[in-house]
Amino acid sequence: MPGLSTRHLLGIKGLNEADIQLIFETADNFKTVLNRPIKKVPSLRDVTIANIFFENSTRTRLSFELAEKRLSADVVNFAASSSSVSKGETLIDTVNNILAMKVDMVVMRHPYAGAATFLSKHVKAQIVNAGDGAHEHPTQALLDAFSIREKYGDVAGKKVVIVGDILHSRVALSNILCLKQLGAEVMVCGPTTLIPKYIGALGVKVEHNLIKALNWCDVANMLRIQLERQDIKYFPSLREYTMLYGLNKQILDSLDKEITVMHPGPINRGVEITSDVADSKQSIILDQVENGVAIRMAVLYLLAGQNPE
Ligand code: CP
Repeated sequence: MPGLSTRHLLGIKGLNEADIQLIFETADNFKTVLNRPIKKVPSLRDVTIANIFFENSTRTRLSFELAEKRLSADVVNFAASSSSVSKGETLIDTVNNILAMKVDMVVMRHPYAGAATFLSKHVKAQIVNAGDGAHEHPTQALLDAFSIREKYGDVAGKKVVIVGDILHSRVALSNILCLKQLGAEVMVCGPTTLIPKYIGALGVKVEHNLIKALNWCDVANMLRIQLERQDIKYFPSLREYTMLYGLNKQILDSLDKEITVMHPGPINRGVEITSDVADSKQSIILDQVENGVAIRMAVLYLLAGQNPE
């Protein structure tokens, strides 16, 4: 049976197109399982997974935990705020202590870019990156692309605009890498100050006018302003940002064609997206969340099938 080309999931950068297609095909099967009355399979019985979160999370943490439980894995959860990290323990010591309790796989969210890659070089367990600073959020990008595939049948040839705080967004970078691998056309849209200078090297278009961007695309992925990662002011006020880059129903209804609206969450209603858009029939935001469990089941299942190094 073909497997993934990698032992860890550290970013979309470490995946090739065949890996992504394999994850999607495996997720298709798990999505069927999740729609059955009995949603559990024994695939990861005897595998123990630790979810270690050094940053807040609702969707990713619960989605990984549900995916693990649906696969019959044993699960332990670790929140940095209530751990001995606050007493000065290092990341490697913390994880090695967790691994000493016979844990096989670590799912980690961390505020620092590169934390998952660093850990994969220093501990024996398989590592899954659940978001590292402003760097990558690979399972989010996989579930986003899977949701586009579900909606349109294929990602190749689709036009996707990612709107908002591209500079501080791990979702943006992982989405760009994943969508480009799958043959989509990608545009980013936002204020100049929130578009990184290197973006052209990733092969994406740049548009600063929201209406033009929306009229170009099939899918708009609206991102939250990452205020927690901004140490300086990148625009005069949230009110002005909303006037220029917020998506409301009036704009949505004025477009030349019916586009699909996505958002990775958490949503700031009334800032980057209004409630009537987030809750509209053009929004697939909750489908993204639903698909997240199947995608994470697929990732964990395929990684568990890899041979230890
Ligand atoms: N999309 C996402 O990563 O959400 P959480 O921060 O709630 O996990």
